[in-house]
Amino acid sequence: MRIETGTLILRWGSVSKDEGVPRILMSQFRTLDDIPNVSGKRVLMRVDLNAPMKDGKVTDATRIVRMAPTIDEIAGKGGKVILLSHLGRPKGRDPKETLRPLAAEVAKATGRNVAFAEDCIGETARAAVAALKPGDVLLLENTRFHAGEEKNDPAFVRELAALGDLYVNEAFSAAHRAHASTEGLGHLLPAYAGRGMQAELDALEKALIAPERPLAAIVGGAKVSTKLELLGNLIAKVNVLIIGGGMANTFLLAIGKNVGKSLAERELVPMAREILAKAHAIGCEIVLPVDAVVARKFEANAASRVVAVSNVAPDEMILDIGPRSIEHVVSVLARIKTLVWNGPFGAFELEPFDNGTIEVAEAAAELTAAGKLVTVAGGGDTVAALNAAGVSGRFSYVSTAGGAFLEWLEGKTLPGVDILRVK
Ligand code: 3PG
Ligand code: MG
Repeated sequence: MRIETGTLILRWGSVSKDEGVPRILMSQFRTLDDIPNVSGKRVLMRVDLNAPMKDGKVTDATRIVRMAPTIDEIAGKGGKVILLSHLGRPKGRDPKETLRPLAAEVAKATGRNVAFAEDCIGETARAAVAALKPGDVLLLENTRFHAGEEKNDPAFVRELAALGDLYVNEAFSAAHRAHASTEGLGHLLPAYAGRGMQAELDALEKALIAPERPLAAIVGGAKVSTKLELLGNLIAKVNVLIIGGGMANTFLLAIGKNVGKSLAERELVPMAREILAKAHAIGCEIVLPVDAVVARKFEANAASRVVAVSNVAPDEMILDIGPRSIEHVVSVLARIKTLVWNGPFGAFELEPFDNGTIEVAEAAAELTAAGKLVTVAGGGDTVAALNAAGVSGRFSYVSTAGGAFLEWLEGKTLPGVDILRVK
C-alpha cells in the first residue's frame, strides 16, 4: 500500500481482472425475436408503471417512455397487449394507488388507445381481455391490490396466466421481486424479455460482467450501511473504486481523519477498515476525497469553505467534495474504459453542494460522447442527480431502476431476470 503524502488517495495499483469472468450473453435470454408469431396472441406484459407521482400526476415519465417501443412492437405485429403493473405498496385495494391515470400516460407515450380494467383477475379482467382485437392495448388494475401478487401465490398466478398466451417481462426495475407478475408467470407461460429489459441487461453486461477495462465504480450516497454488500461485491470486480457522498466520511474516519459534524456511521468504522484491507489485498484501488466543501449548516447556499480533509473543524460538516478531489476523479476517468455510477458525491439536492457531482458527471459525459468511455449509471438518487446535472442523455445507459439496479450491483440473482434465461 502506498498512501500519497498530501493527498490521502490510497493507491494499490490496478490488476487485470479479465481472466475467468463468465460472460453472460444476451442470447441466453429469450427476447421478442424468439416469439414465433405474435399476431392475434394475448401477450401479458409486466411493465413498471410505478413512476414518481404528485397529486395523481406523473412527474417523471422516463419509465413509461422507455417501455413504449415494446408495446408498439407487439401491438404493431397484431398482438393483444395486456399490461400488468404495481403502483406503490398498497395493502389491499386502495383508490389512492389506482393505475387508472397511468392508462393516459401509456397512451401518450405510445400514441395508441389504452383501455383500462378495474381488476387484474376475475370476471372484469376476463371480459376486458375477451374484447381485445389484434393491436389493442389494455391496462389492468394494480396487481398489488391482491395479496397473491407479493406472495407469488400459485392460485393467483394461475388466474393471471389464464388471461394470456405469452408473457413478456419489461420491468427490470421490479425484477428483484419474486412476485406473481414479475416471476411466477414465467413458470406457466412462454417468457420473453421486452426491448427495455433487453437494453438494460445488455448495458449491465457491458458494465460489470464483460466490461472493457480498466473498470471503475463511483459509489456515493449517504450511508455505508445500505451499501455494504455492494462495496463487497464491487471491490472484487472493479479496478478502481471511487467513494463519495456521506458514506465517504465513514471511510475518512477509518483512515484517521476527523470529519467534524459530518454525517458518518461511527459504528461502521471497523467495517470500513475491513473493506479497505480487502481491497488492498486483492489489488483494487480506492479513491477517497482529499478535500471537501464544508459548512456549519445543512442548507442551500450555507456559508462554506474548502478545506483538506485533515482540516475539518469540529463544528463543520462535509457537504461536497472539493476541487482537488474533483480533479483527481476526473483524471481517473481519463484512464479507464468503463464506469459504473451509483449515488451522488455530495448533498446534491442543496446548491451549490451539487457541484462535485455535476463536474464529475460532465467529464464522464464528455468522455462518453467522445467514444472513450462506457458509462452506466442507476439506482435511487443517481438518476435524479444526473438528470439535474443535464448529462443523462450523454451517458451510455442510465437505468431507471432503484433497488433492482443495486441488487444487481451486489451480484445477486434477480428472480424476474432469471426466469427469462434459456435453461
Ligand atoms: C421501484 O420503484 O423501485 C420498483 O417499482 C419496485 O417497487 P417496490 O420497491 O415497491 O417493490
Ligand atoms: Mg423501491
